[in-house]
Amino acid sequence: MPSFASTVTLNNGQNMPILGLGTWLSREGEAIEAVKVAIDAGYRHIDTAYLYGNEKEVGQAIREKIAEGVIKREDIFVTTKLWNSYHDPINVEEAFNRSLTNLDIDYIDLYLMHWPMSYKFDAWKTNDPDAPTVPEFTEVDYVDTWRAMEKLLNGGKVRSIGVSNFNSEQVGRIVKECTVKPVTNQVECNPGLNQRKLIEFCKNLDITITAYSPLGRPNYYEKDPKNTPKPALDDARVANIAKKYGKTSGQIILRYLVDIGTIPVPKSANEQRLRQNIDIFDFKLTEAEIKVMDNFNNGKRTVPFAHHINHKYYPFSIEY
Ligand code: A2P
Repeated sequence: MPSFASTVTLNNGQNMPILGLGTWLSREGEAIEAVKVAIDAGYRHIDTAYLYGNEKEVGQAIREKIAEGVIKREDIFVTTKLWNSYHDPINVEEAFNRSLTNLDIDYIDLYLMHWPMSYKFDAWKTNDPDAPTVPEFTEVDYVDTWRAMEKLLNGGKVRSIGVSNFNSEQVGRIVKECTVKPVTNQVECNPGLNQRKLIEFCKNLDITITAYSPLGRPNYYEKDPKNTPKPALDDARVANIAKKYGKTSGQIILRYLVDIGTIPVPKSANEQRLRQNIDIFDFKLTEAEIKVMDNFNNGKRTVPFAHHINHKYYPFSIEY
């Protein structure tokens, strides 16, 4: 039986399902299957990015599900992102069109600026952020990039625009200096980094928070426990709450993130976990349980992007 997420109305009147499928690190050949299974499981919100290199697969999976009659185009909310190498306003429209062509789904629901930080234009290729070399930084002002993104709205091929990895000052500057308000700020958000202050700040501006790495990247912790904060997934306190509701720890974490007002986009390429992750809309945590979950907050990032610390627009030098 599919499970469906409820929707939130964004500040421009569009509706967005409050849980989506993340596709970062869906390996080649993996994304297409994951997206198809997700749609069958009830997901109606898919999050990808030019950087991930899987837009073509994501789009193909969606088109196949439309052809099968499982969904119509308007039933599904698709997000993709402008990569840092294309921040110069002269490149924004072309970058967008490339994503649109890759996805080939008529229009994009939400286009995000992936980071406030820009790189030197480096051909039309996806970049590997884990590559050992630090890309050449540039100082294109994200406000200028945003103005170029605003123009995309006139073309009718994108319904909403937003930002990602922006701190409160950067969000504030966009709101103050530009015409269109971002509908969301997609940031790392999980029990270890619960972003309560940024959520409140954005809420006051009628901007939602989308939560990436909502489970705290257990795969990173497994690989590198010294340099990765321990995810709450294996903690007995979470397991206790899970037992009460007959749910898994992953489901408790995702429910917590919904209960504190975010839109989580957990990634999974495993059918069982994928189904589990959206099956969180038949219960709600109590205030006391939310407090237990709040205690995991330690402000540590699994995605510190520390090799970018010298970028003029590095977002994580202030508290939130
Ligand atoms: P898999 O794709 O094998 O399910 P995040 O979204 O925080 O980045 O976490 C993604 C990682 O968490 C992936 O490695 C994914 O592996 C794993 N994962 C996804 N859902 C769950 C879950 N419900 N419980 C445990 N691990 C999960």
